[in-house]
Amino acid sequence: MVAKVIDGKEIAKKKRQEIASEVRALKEENIFPGLAVVLVGNNHASKTYVNNKEKACREAGIESFLIALPEEVSQEELLREIAELNKREDVHGILVQLPLPDHIEEKKVIEAISPEKDVDGFHPLNIGRMMTGQDSFLPCTPYGVMVMLEETGIEVSGKHVVIVGRSNIVGKPAGQLFLNKNATVTYCHSRTKDLEYHTKQADIVVAALGKPNFIRSNHIKEGATVIDVGINRDEHEKLCGDVHPEVAEKAAYLTPVPGGVGPMTITMLLFNTLKAARQSKA
Ligand code: GUN
Repeated sequence: MVAKVIDGKEIAKKKRQEIASEVRALKEENIFPGLAVVLVGNNHASKTYVNNKEKACREAGIESFLIALPEEVSQEELLREIAELNKREDVHGILVQLPLPDHIEEKKVIEAISPEKDVDGFHPLNIGRMMTGQDSFLPCTPYGVMVMLEETGIEVSGKHVVIVGRSNIVGKPAGQLFLNKNATVTYCHSRTKDLEYHTKQADIVVAALGKPNFIRSNHIKEGATVIDVGINRDEHEKLCGDVHPEVAEKAAYLTPVPGGVGPMTITMLLFNTLKAARQSKA
């Protein structure tokens, strides 16, 4: 079997056009969706991500406000900035780019963001709402994965989904979103014994462990759907995912890296910002 490639770029393009059209409609009602992006320090990867987010906002007609703070900024100062953004009427969404420098407690910062502006879906209130199946902001990467599957027509209900990786940003919420859609979910991680035993039973594997080309053919059942969330550099500094290219010979569907989950993450950020702006009306 040769896997069908799930084209994240194409799905993202279609979704971003829909979002742009809804942004235009909202502007007719005098609501101008705005996203504040807080960047602390000089992390090169974070800067690139933030630039990409700002560019995507512009293209969708969403205003973006960059708040760039020095590496040495105190936690108190950062919390003050967030309190200001919470109050601003032209800011509907707030995103603090992670990771933060070691002297700042990430948890405190995330909890300082108003849940109504938490377009990353990282605030405990939004996570709790997601877990109990209430309306909330959903974390962008796992949300993007669900939209990709839906757009590709891959049924989730009743399927066995194995998540490899248990980060707060991807693995944990991804499992919850699949459960909400009536999948049977197994979480695997670095302490899992016999990973292959588990992943081989999966109808859908979500690889979000952050290790280049780690998931091989022997991990995968013939005809499975494989979602690669990894963004790594291989030994030649080439961009690669968590899934080895050989898996394409065995899977029925596979997401590429780049051009798979990546473009969907930013798309869902735009979607969440639009949602926050719309809800600000009420
Ligand atoms: N760092 C890596 N991924 C993310 C993300 O989705 N949101 C934020 N705020 N920071 C990140």
